[in-house]
Formats: sequence, structure tokens, C-alpha cells
Amino acid sequence: MKTYVPLFALMILITAPPATIQGQDGKTVVIAVMKAMGVENLKTLQFSGEGSNAGIGQNINPKTGWPTVRVKSYTRQIDINAGTSSAQLVRVQNGAETQQNQVIQANAPWDQQFDFWITPYGFLKGAMANPVTLRAGTISGTNYKVVTFVLQNKYKVEGYINDQNLVERVHTWIDNDVLGDMLVEGVYSDYKDFDGVKAPTFMIVKQGGFPTLILAVNNVKANVPVMISPLPQQATAPVNVQTEKVADGVYYLKGGTHHSVLVEFSDYVAVIEAPQNEARSLAVIAEVKKLIPNKPIRYLINTHHHFDHSGGLRTYVDAGATIVTHDINQEFYERAFAAPRTLNPDRLERSKKKAMIEVTGNKKVLTDATRTLELHLIQNNPHNDGILMAFLPREKILIEADLYTPPAANAAAASGAVNPAALALLDNLEKLRLDFDTILPLHGPGRVTRADLYAFVAKPLVPMASLLAPAPARVAAGARGGRGGGQPAAAVSAEDAPLQAMLEATCSACHTLDRVNAKKADKDGWTTTVTRMIDHGARLAEDDAPRLIDFLARTHGQ
Ligand code: HEC
Repeated sequence: MKTYVPLFALMILITAPPATIQGQDGKTVVIAVMKAMGVENLKTLQFSGEGSNAGIGQNINPKTGWPTVRVKSYTRQIDINAGTSSAQLVRVQNGAETQQNQVIQANAPWDQQFDFWITPYGFLKGAMANPVTLRAGTISGTNYKVVTFVLQNKYKVEGYINDQNLVERVHTWIDNDVLGDMLVEGVYSDYKDFDGVKAPTFMIVKQGGFPTLILAVNNVKANVPVMISPLPQQATAPVNVQTEKVADGVYYLKGGTHHSVLVEFSDYVAVIEAPQNEARSLAVIAEVKKLIPNKPIRYLINTHHHFDHSGGLRTYVDAGATIVTHDINQEFYERAFAAPRTLNPDRLERSKKKAMIEVTGNKKVLTDATRTLELHLIQNNPHNDGILMAFLPREKILIEADLYTPPAANAAAASGAVNPAALALLDNLEKLRLDFDTILPLHGPGRVTRADLYAFVAKPLVPMASLLAPAPARVAAGARGGRGGGQPAAAVSAEDAPLQAMLEATCSACHTLDRVNAKKADKDGWTTTVTRMIDHGARLAEDDAPRLIDFLARTHGQ
């Protein structure tokens, strides 16, 4: 597996120690920026473009970026006076278009509202209306004036002003169940003049170090009427736990969307999965204490790091449980558990207990006189590199998350396309010859059978007996599905083809290769550019960066 340049290290560079700027006052700087950007009389702004976006917490492993989806069209309206904003996006995924609407009301919770304040215009509004401080800051070798204000006595917003008095970056922090105080960065570049108002024509928003929006802006209109209407209210489902006894000492603890499983051993219990957040964990722990009052929760088994499956882990750490997870997650959890949590302190933040983490590779077995529980890595799946399933051999029960989510009883018939994640699960189960009858999926309406899984992937049921029979060598596993794939190589020598492919794969994620081809620079010049691109979010393995730089200096040299 490749190692990626640690974004965490780059984030430290960004928060260099504060240095005050002699003889300057923050408000004067803000007024100069308002003037330079032509926004003194700006009331509304509308802009549109295209690019990509991503939700956070669903990366294939903790070191890679959030999986992005192409945004074919993006239109945003901002009402600066009202402090409101709306965006309409058309996303294209697997050839299908879906619409996404985002609306920010002035009184929205901070984890929505921040998205108004990190725009250059929201930032300037806040900087005019609130006390500000001024310091010098440096990011990737570029110097900025950093203007900071605080909203609601709690939420810090920092704007990075460049030497042309343009807002090049805005940083703030929002609460995240897994990451704690999570950094949000808006990065604005390629400013152009639109009827006297300066607007960035390229923007990137990052959350937790990885892009959540990359946008090339092609149309900007100032002071046009905007219509920002609230979205219909969505009722938040109450937290509840519905318990189903599946075998002696094995309980399926279901919630609205995410489930857990309780397994009793002779001296302790283990819980599989701590989804969502602290509220869910507290409800599940209370149910565990009711079902099995006098045994401690020794282990919390985490199937994978996706945030909807790990948001409740910290509550179990606080309750004294050891987290069992695949070893690709150890460093990530250690760092996340230690991150500051000033915005929304949880129980672990108050108790300051140190997390105990026990990792597994391909297989781990928890066993005592009464029970055996096996954990297996699900290999070669398109969903997550470190995803575990749990297997109770004596009870013939399988517990898995995400790879196979049975449809609700009233769901429309499936489209006919076979789900590659469920196929990967089945492939692992057959190879490992796990003998089970019942599946407890951690999403979906409830328990299903082995036969249901075969039906779901439209494969004839292979009787367990024939898998268990000492068969002649079975056919090896199928091809790895879902990810990777070749890039078309340009006309370069066979030797350079892999480098050209790397360039195309890495450097056309945010802008076209025209930008690269328009540049001529020596090795130093390319080193500066590529380092800055990694800072923007370009994904390049650590040992690949020098090779790509050499290649660029050779093929795009001075
Ligand atoms: C995560 C988004 C992203 C990725 C991926 C990315 N870039 Fe960029 N690139 C930007 C942004 C933003 C700018 C404009 C601001 C700037 O220059 O820093 C830019 C500008 C540039 C420019 C013009 C400015 C200059 O320094 O001459 C070049 C050249 C460039 N990128 C090369 C690359 C190369 C080479 C790669 C692959 C290693 C790459 N980019 C990958 C975001 C990205």
C-alpha cells in the first residue's frame, strides 16, 4: 500500500505561531480589502460553475480523500445582508443525475452556517461587524495578513488576505463526532472582475483536510435579486433501541438506520459497532446494561472507520471498553481521539481517558469457554480497505456492515445491476468457507439468511455442504472490482507512460491539464507548484512526488 503525504503535517504549517503586524489595525485592513474587492455596496451575489463535491467520512481508507462526485452544474445565491445562502447542484454518479439543494438560514446551526461565513463575502461581512485581530501568517511559503473574528462567542473565523488585498482563504472549525474540532478551509483563487466586483473563479472547500467542493466558476452576477427559501423541515428520528434475541447471549440491537450486536462471553460482553454519535452509544450501552447487568463491556468491535460507523466509538472508550479495529485505522483513531474538542465537549473529552485500541489484520478470534467470535477482513471489496465482518461459528451467524444491505420490504425492485460490494462479500465468505445461516446486517430492515444474499446478487445458491466438502481446488477469486483502472496515456515513450498516466490521474482532478501544459519551469519551480497542489488536496504518494517533479521538469522544462 502506498503512503500518502500526511496532510496533518501540512496543516501544522498552516497554523504557524501568531506574529502581530506592527503598526496596523485589523479594521483598516478589512476596509482596504472591501475596497480592493469592490464589495462596499454588495448586497447579493450569484455565481455558477461546475466541478465536484463530496460528503465527509466515506473515504476508502483513512489516509485518502473523501470520494468526490462530479457536479455538472452549481448555482449559488448569497444574500449578504440577510446572512442566507442557497445552492443548487446537479451531480452525476454512474451516469445518473441527481439534484442537491443546500440552504443556509441566518439562524441555522453552526455546522450549516459556517458555509456562509467562509465565503469571501460572508467573511468580510463578519469582519466589518465584529471586533477583529490581525496577525501575520504563512502558508506554503506565501505570506498573508490574517484577520480573525469570533461569532457567537465561540466560533473563530480567520481570513487570509494576500498582497493584492484579496481574500484568498477563510478558515473555521466545526464539530465532528469523529474528528472533534474539524478544520474547514475555503481556498479562493483566480480572482476576476465582474462589473467592478472581484470574485474568485476557482474555489476549493476542504473539511478535515480533504476537498468537499471544487468549483470552477464561469458566471458571476452582483446585486441581482435572489430568492432563498427554506427547505422543508426534516424531523429528526428519536434515538431508540429495538432488541431482538437471536441466540442465547446474542442480541441484535436495532436503531432507525444503524444497528449493533451484543455478544455475551463468560466474564464480559462485546458490542459490535458504535454507529452515529454519543446519543446512540448511550442508548445502546443502557440497553446492554439492562440485558446483561453484571458484565463489563470489554470490547467494542468497529467494522470500519466510515464516520457513520465510528461516530459513537468515543463513548465506549469513556465507558472503559477496548476498541477492536483493523490496523489501517489505529493511527487515525489515535489522532482523532486526541484532537481538541472545544466546540462540543463529549464525555471522553471530560474524562480524558486514554483509548485502548487492539488491532487485527486478516483475522482475529475472541474466545472463551462459552463463545467464539471470529473477525475477518473482507478483502478486495470496493467499499473500504479495512472492513471487518464478524462470525459466530457455533451459532452460525454472520454480522456485516454496508457490503450487503437488504432492501426494505416495500422497496422498489432493484435495477438489475449486480451490487459489486455484495459480490465481494460473497466471494470472501465462500473462500473462507464460513458456515452460517443467519446474517445480521448493520443497516436495513432486519435479519436475513444466507440464501437471501445469493438472491441479492442473482447467483444460484451454493449449498454449504459443497463448499465444506474437500473439493478439488476451487477457482481463484474474481477480479478486483470497482476501483482503479487505467488512464489513457498520451504519446510518450513506453518508459514515461506510467508517469504520464500518473500526471493525468493526479493533476486533472481539479483543473484540466491545460494548466500544467501552459507552465514551463525547472525542477525548483515544479517542486514549488507540486507541493502547493498537494496542499490544495492533490493525492500523490510520498515517493511518487519526486518522480513526477523530475518528469515535469523534463517534459515541461524551461
Ligand atoms: C485539489 C485540487 C488540485 C489538484 C489535484 C491539482 N491542482 Fe493545480 N491548481 C489548483 C488550484 C486551486 C490552483 C490555483 C491556485 C494556485 O496556483 O495555487 C492550481 C493551479 C495550478 C497551476 C497554475 C499555477 C502555477 O503554479 O503555475 C499549475 C501549473 C498546476 N496547478 C499544476 C498542477 C499539477 C502538476 C498537479 C498534479 C500534481 C495539480 N496541479 C493538481 C488545484 C489543484
